[in-house]
Amino acid sequence: MDIKRIFVVGAGTMGNGIAQVAAMSGYQVTCMDVMPAALEKAKATIAKSTGKLLEKGTISAEQKAGADQIQFVSSYDNLAEADFIIEAATENPELKFKIFKELDAAAREGIIIASNTSSISITKIAAQTKRADKVIGMHFMNPVPLMKLVEVIKGLATSEETLKTTLELCKVMGKQAVEANDSPGFISNRILCPMINEAIFALQENVGTPEAIDQVMKLGMNHPMGPLTLADLIGLDVVLFIMEVLQRDLGEDKYRPAPLLRKMVDAGYLGRKTGRGFYKY
Ligand code: CAA
Repeated sequence: MDIKRIFVVGAGTMGNGIAQVAAMSGYQVTCMDVMPAALEKAKATIAKSTGKLLEKGTISAEQKAGADQIQFVSSYDNLAEADFIIEAATENPELKFKIFKELDAAAREGIIIASNTSSISITKIAAQTKRADKVIGMHFMNPVPLMKLVEVIKGLATSEETLKTTLELCKVMGKQAVEANDSPGFISNRILCPMINEAIFALQENVGTPEAIDQVMKLGMNHPMGPLTLADLIGLDVVLFIMEVLQRDLGEDKYRPAPLLRKMVDAGYLGRKTGRGFYKY
């Protein structure tokens, strides 16, 4: 099917990044969030990001104009016009299941509904709908406008046609798709979050300061950011949630969240978004 209109659910960090990249790629984009403040923030974030990319010559004036035309809405009123839907709401299984039921009821028959979930089973999300063959994982990376990867995850019932359309969409959006099977954490977070968790154990056991731990991984392993800086970018609550999913669903203690991670989340030190994590912002 010819995709012209993309509907993004959620205007947070991932949702607004996805909306921006889709709009810069020539799609008519609607970005929906129930919180007016999130929509206002998304508008400002996209304007800042596209302004910077235009200034650097990374995008054209037309691409910026495309992003300027994103529609921000607070309901599913025009969802039936969408040719492709990407859900990027908060990483909470019950919330996502509810949203998928609503999207399934309001979207046109045959339309693909992708989830940007970082760890919730695509098979389980798909089972909330009557179109499990049309549900797929499209896991973008933060910051979405800069990161090349989209991890594409097939659920048990996802059809080959849905996969093909989604891979094609990634390409048009200028992203490199990598396929993963539906398993806890997929590929990205199965590997990334245990590494971050281990860095937090090392900090807790005073193996090094936060700066030392990050410097070792930056200077010694050429990572663009150290694991604790990256945890602050991702959000400590998200890292904890993913570790809990890995521990529960893979049933192994090696995925046990570091007690310091849990303590920081309890304290509300969630990283950049709250102004304090392993570092202060
Ligand atoms: N839009 C436009 N420009 C942006 C931007 C955005 N959203 N975010 C950053 N930039 C710009 C910066 O403003 C900066 O511009 P100037 O050079 O003009 O100052 C430029 O990009 C480079 O940024 P920085 O100098 O701050 O830092 P950097 O060179 O380290 O690059 C980075 C930033 C690309 C984020 C890099 O640090 C990096 O790749 N970090 C790792 C990110 C990562 O691992 N992401 C995946 C997280 S996991 C995930 O998302 C999935 C999950 O499920 C948890």
